[in-house]
Amino acid sequence: MCILKSGKMTGNLDSHNTSTNWLPDTSIKYASMSKVTDWWQGYLKYQVPKSVRRKMLIFLFIVAICCITLIYSCFNCYVICSGTCNVLSIKPDLMTQNAQNITRLSSSHLKTSQRLPSCIIIGVRKAGTRALLQYLDLHPSIVASAKEQHFFNTDRYKLGLEYYRKEMPPSLEDQITLEKTPAYFSDLMTPERIYRMNSSIKLLIIVREPVTRLISDYTQLKFVKGQRNKEIEEFEDLVLDENGEVNTGYRPVQRSMYYHYFVNWLEFFRLDQIHITNGDALITNPYPELYNIETFLGIPHKFSQQMFYFNASKGFFCMSKESLETPCLSDTKGRPHPKVDPEVLEKLYDFFRPRNKLFFIQAKQTFDWP
Ligand code: A3P
Repeated sequence: MCILKSGKMTGNLDSHNTSTNWLPDTSIKYASMSKVTDWWQGYLKYQVPKSVRRKMLIFLFIVAICCITLIYSCFNCYVICSGTCNVLSIKPDLMTQNAQNITRLSSSHLKTSQRLPSCIIIGVRKAGTRALLQYLDLHPSIVASAKEQHFFNTDRYKLGLEYYRKEMPPSLEDQITLEKTPAYFSDLMTPERIYRMNSSIKLLIIVREPVTRLISDYTQLKFVKGQRNKEIEEFEDLVLDENGEVNTGYRPVQRSMYYHYFVNWLEFFRLDQIHITNGDALITNPYPELYNIETFLGIPHKFSQQMFYFNASKGFFCMSKESLETPCLSDTKGRPHPKVDPEVLEKLYDFFRPRNKLFFIQAKQTFDWP
């Protein structure tokens, strides 16, 4: 407007040139812009009533505040998630349980790293080790390695503790890293090797009535051989020798002689470092067994009866946590057992009875086994 005015003034002053053709191009541009501004101001002033204009201003102000808030929360989320949510995404229940605390914690508390296990499920094979691990992994204070590591009982041990540590899932400083390898229990080298890693480690053993465990072990071996198109002898032929006595050379029979292996563990660990879970009870009602483990580990009691439900079609308890992809164990657990000759069964019970007693003495606790 001002330029247009001055243009006119300049034109009037210059008597030789009354048109505005002499104006440079930019002035023409400014002139047309000022026309638009005039039109807009006029429009606002005359077409839009004052009250509506005020409302428009308030609306624009609110939109601006919303945008700023949105940008700020996105930025915050990025900062938290990029630094700490790696562990939270691994263990989402932590997110819900600790959500209110997270913003209050400093980033050093939230730093995750891979740590050596401070608790190991050392066995016993086919006594419910997988179910126990899966259940314990629900606990916010526990982070479990899904894979059986077989570190202490194989040549992997030569790779060193640093290799083992890097195989562990990330955990927070106050969480327990848990590993399970059922083969540790019957391996002669493992107790000392674990002791050398951490002499104050906590050990979990799950046992099951030895004859049922033996049948389960046989069922598993039969299944694995079947997958390789190999035949396996009948159960009765394997568990009894040519004299009709229990075949103590058969590995599944040996693995049910708990006292025989437990003594090796007691050489290195105090009994109060070892918790023995009843695998038969874990099948029928997991909650009390898990409550006892929480007490043993000194972690808050977070398990409840509602966290598990009995799945009638599976015949086992499953986890009622909705976010779980697989709330029940796979079909490799709970395979149907072969029907065993009752006379052979009786022989097996007789064989294990005195051996179980030895185990009860070692463990200073008894189980309701025949
Ligand atoms: P069976 O397959 O003989 O029934 P592991 O995990 O140590 O190999 O033990 C397998 C056993 O865990 C299974 O033996 C099954 O009885 C038992 N188990 C305990 N709780 C279970 C659950 N919730 N779902 C499936 N199997 C479970």
